[in-house]
Amino acid sequence: MYGAVISEYGGSSVLKYKDSLDEPKPKANQVLVEIRASSVNPIDLMKREGYGKSVFEKQRSNSFPWILGSDFAGTIKEVGSKVSRFSKGDEVWGCTSDPNRGCYAQYGVFNQDEVDFKPSNISFNEAASLPYVALTTWAALIRWATLRPQDIQNKKVFIQAGAGGVGTFAIQLFSSWNCNIATTCSNKNRKLVEELGAQTVINYLEQDFSSVLTDYDIVLDSIGDLGEEGVMNKCIKVLKPLDTSHYITLNHPLVRTMDDKGVLLGLPHALYLRQKVKRENKPINVHWSLYRPSLSGLQELNKLVSEKKVKPVIDSVFSLKDINLAHDKVGTGHSSGKVVIEM
Ligand SMILES: NC(=O)c1ccc[n+]([C@@H]2O[C@H](COP(=O)([O-])OP(=O)(O)OC[C@H]3O[C@@H](n4cnc5c(N)ncnc54)[C@H](OP(=O)(O)O)[C@@H]3O)[C@@H](O)[C@H]2O)c1
Repeated sequence: MYGAVISEYGGSSVLKYKDSLDEPKPKANQVLVEIRASSVNPIDLMKREGYGKSVFEKQRSNSFPWILGSDFAGTIKEVGSKVSRFSKGDEVWGCTSDPNRGCYAQYGVFNQDEVDFKPSNISFNEAASLPYVALTTWAALIRWATLRPQDIQNKKVFIQAGAGGVGTFAIQLFSSWNCNIATTCSNKNRKLVEELGAQTVINYLEQDFSSVLTDYDIVLDSIGDLGEEGVMNKCIKVLKPLDTSHYITLNHPLVRTMDDKGVLLGLPHALYLRQKVKRENKPINVHWSLYRPSLSGLQELNKLVSEKKVKPVIDSVFSLKDINLAHDKVGTGHSSGKVVIEM
């Protein structure tokens, strides 16, 4: 089969297209999917450069070659002996957390609980743009902040970086819950985020959001500790000083601390840092969020897309042979929505 692999860490040039890779075989609880499209997430670029190697290398049976990529949309080619939910030819989508192999390839094997039927009203390219960013947002709210959709209805929500993959999905999700949404982006993306449902749009190049926003219930921060010094404190300042307020960041020191100190010393140190920021910001709840798979989240996403409450937002489409250009595009940090890979 064909696919794109890395055999060392580095810039986008380490991504190599190959057409003689071994086709994977599904285990009993897995399906083999012919992947029609995938998409690029910033975590792919970070893994390519060696981020998280203290953790991810331990989870892989061989360090290299390594196929990156989380999202997939395609058709079922084969099902494992314990799989009854799917049949050959079904159109599916999902997102893999398999540490050994990802989705920048012609075929992938996926655990059946990370796969669901693709909504029929969107294309494979569109479908591949959503699962990772949607399940990241779902995990942030439901798993880490332990909120329920009914807790979020009508809340005031601030989303940092509304024009990215996560932001464009999150605006639509909160909008489906009738939230009042503020977000940051540059001028070129103002119209996009307004159309998706943001009521207050702040051009971060001209205005400091913390001097404008006040009395918010939830902050979903896609910048976090990758941003300027003190960005977390600024976000927390826009929240009501109550125990019903939640600051959720997608960028925090957990994995980097383990990379720096090793897992044995780094994990307890990172947990100590997390406890410290939680304590210092009481009564406001502070959460360090991580992507987690969720079949119920994927099924909810299907409903939202089928009911046209969420639409895919695609910045650009690249062929797998141009995977390095697709990575460079995401690497600018200024794509609008998702960069899709067509197989
Ligand atoms: N913890 C986790 O499990 C997890 C999961 C998913 C993502 N993440 C992280 O979350 C972040 C967002 O992911 P993504 O997929 O949405 O990334 P993305 O699509 O690459 O985000 C690009 C967007 O960021 C906006 N942006 C850049 N600098 C900004 C700033 N200073 N203020 C406001 N907006 C800014 C850009 O808007 P303009 O072009 O208008 O500037 C652009 O639209 C990434 O850092 C990613 O690593 C973490």
